Amino acid sequence: APIQAPDLTTCHEAYDDSLKEKVVCCKPVVVTTIDFKFPDPSEPLRVRRPAKDMSQKDLAKFIEAIAKMKALPEDDPRNFIQQAQVHCSFCQDAYDQPGFPNIPVQVHGSWIFPAWHRFYVYFWEKILGNLIGDPTFAIPYWNWSDPEGMYLPEIYLDEKSPLYNGKRNKWHYDALLDFKYSFGDANPTSSEADDVILANLRLLNNDFTESKNTPKLFMGRVLRAGEEVVEEYGYLETVHNTIHQWVGPSTSPYWDMGNLHTAARDTVFWGHHANVDRLWNTYQLTRNMKPEFDTTDWLDATFVFPDPDVKGQAIKCKVRDSLDPSKFRYTYESVQPDEQQFLQ
Ligand code: C2O
Repeated sequence: APIQAPDLTTCHEAYDDSLKEKVVCCKPVVVTTIDFKFPDPSEPLRVRRPAKDMSQKDLAKFIEAIAKMKALPEDDPRNFIQQAQVHCSFCQDAYDQPGFPNIPVQVHGSWIFPAWHRFYVYFWEKILGNLIGDPTFAIPYWNWSDPEGMYLPEIYLDEKSPLYNGKRNKWHYDALLDFKYSFGDANPTSSEADDVILANLRLLNNDFTESKNTPKLFMGRVLRAGEEVVEEYGYLETVHNTIHQWVGPSTSPYWDMGNLHTAARDTVFWGHHANVDRLWNTYQLTRNMKPEFDTTDWLDATFVFPDPDVKGQAIKCKVRDSLDPSKFRYTYESVQPDEQQFLQ
């Protein structure tokens, strides 16, 4: 049977594995739950662009929206930290699966990883657009899959900007991203740069080609109701994990980006996940949008998110509704160089 979303009122203490301590990600709230509805097809299309290509005007809007989100009252579900706590609660065992006490809800480490994060980013983008009254507002993505994007984008590095977060590995502020990075590795030198870029591209290329007819390799392993995840990731999640570690500090508890408990408190998280989402979309395109798994165990898996518009209300979403970004009224700007190699 498909994994089912928990009742948000059942949230309990969570556990931060790096910190080895109990943490609180959510306060139980009384909620009504409604079913997810797609935005009206007449809504303008939001076009997500690479962070490095952002115009001054778009950057100013993004900064204004983030500043407003951070300034919302602490208990507002749209507040920046509240939004990050949603991630914390669904990745640090703050909920049990309905009907399976002690089996936690975990949105990483399985085939639901891409879909859950697609909804999550979608709601976040919408909140920001609403805060600045712009229905066309789209978040930037960090295109780390393209050679020109294999650095931390500048928009996140201005200490005076609300996009800034000091809890990162500062050693990586102008370093080349290495998809094989592990803690303690030195930055690639300039004479190593070309090889590292090539190795990054090769790794991605392998991820796409090897998994084309075997989606669980790309998406993650099967997970059904009552099952617990094991530490085994799909290709997309694996490279994504490395980047989390590369951005976050190299010592425990790896806050913010290197720890699922706190990762979404860094604005880079959202640019990173928009790119993860884009790469999933690219993968879908290589398969002509054919659903990756033809089983209700996946298609009817459900998630629940706090309603960005109504306090105390939750929205229930199904994996089957996540499969086509255009139904959410967002898209990625025309095919980028990194995708071309997969889309021939
Ligand atoms: Cu929910 Cu990048 O992890």
